[in-house]
Amino acid sequence: MATTPSTAPFAAKTFGVKIDRLTKRFNSAVVLKEVSLEVRPGEIFVIMGPSGSGKSVLLKHIAGLELPTSGQVLIGDHDAAEAMTHGRVRLALVFQAGALFNSMSVYDNLALYPREHRLGNEAGIRERVMRALQILSLEKAAAKFPSELSGGMKKRVAIARALVMEPELLLYDEPTSELDPVMSATIGEIIATMRQHTAVTSIVVTHDPIIATAIADRMAFLMDGRIRAIGKPAEFRHPTDPAIANFLNPTIDLEHPRFKQLETENE
Ligand SMILES: Nc1ncnc2c1ncn2[C@@H]1O[C@H](COP(=O)(O)OP(=O)(O)OP(=O)(O)O)[C@@H](O)[C@H]1O
Ligand SMILES: [Mg+2]
Repeated sequence: MATTPSTAPFAAKTFGVKIDRLTKRFNSAVVLKEVSLEVRPGEIFVIMGPSGSGKSVLLKHIAGLELPTSGQVLIGDHDAAEAMTHGRVRLALVFQAGALFNSMSVYDNLALYPREHRLGNEAGIRERVMRALQILSLEKAAAKFPSELSGGMKKRVAIARALVMEPELLLYDEPTSELDPVMSATIGEIIATMRQHTAVTSIVVTHDPIIATAIADRMAFLMDGRIRAIGKPAEFRHPTDPAIANFLNPTIDLEHPRFKQLETENE
């Protein structure tokens, strides 16, 4: 008889996401402007864009943490703005800053959700937690506290905690920021592996074009609250839009006053 591998699929269901003319205003500032895009079930969809372009705000609308000024976000057939939806769709958001509980060990951080939602007895929860720690190569960190971990480990714990929820929709906000290139690549691989294990729909917000092109099935550029382009990574290899080209391949502006000043200083 075949035995179940330890990294057997976590989630059975997966959802697509449809964002339809989503506009968000904070007081007088319009931070999302008629954003429309569709993420297919099981897809890894990457959202890129400069700082302040509205990426985190967009993710928060999918998670139901912000409500649209106008427009709509659908998860499958469910409106993300309705509280009911979040009882129907198991959604995990890996926050930009990790958002771990500092007073709890790594193990307890991971066990919190299944304990609160009574997803099995302690032995079952232990199995789930240890499986997630194993996928993220964190077995040895189970008893540690967040303050004892490196930035990269904290990020992995945040991802492991999301995995323990057995999500049907996974949202990542800057999973590789503040990490060195090797750790970033590892996190990229983990995101791809998670999708393999779970067939989960993943939406990844990142600044990092290398990770984006490595893992994305499709990607979108958000600039100043608007979608500037959507396509497969290969379609962005030779971008014709100067704003996207500059974002993917930043060039140093030699006319910048700072360089002029350095030139003068060196004379
Ligand atoms: N709760 C809020 N109230 C008022 N303004 C907000 C709020 N949340 C975000 N903003 C504003 O919305 C804009 C977009 O913010 P957001 O956090 O989505 O940017 P981002 O693209 O995620 O940037 P970064 O790459 O730096 O994380 C910013 O100008 C920000 O100041
Ligand atoms: Mg952000």
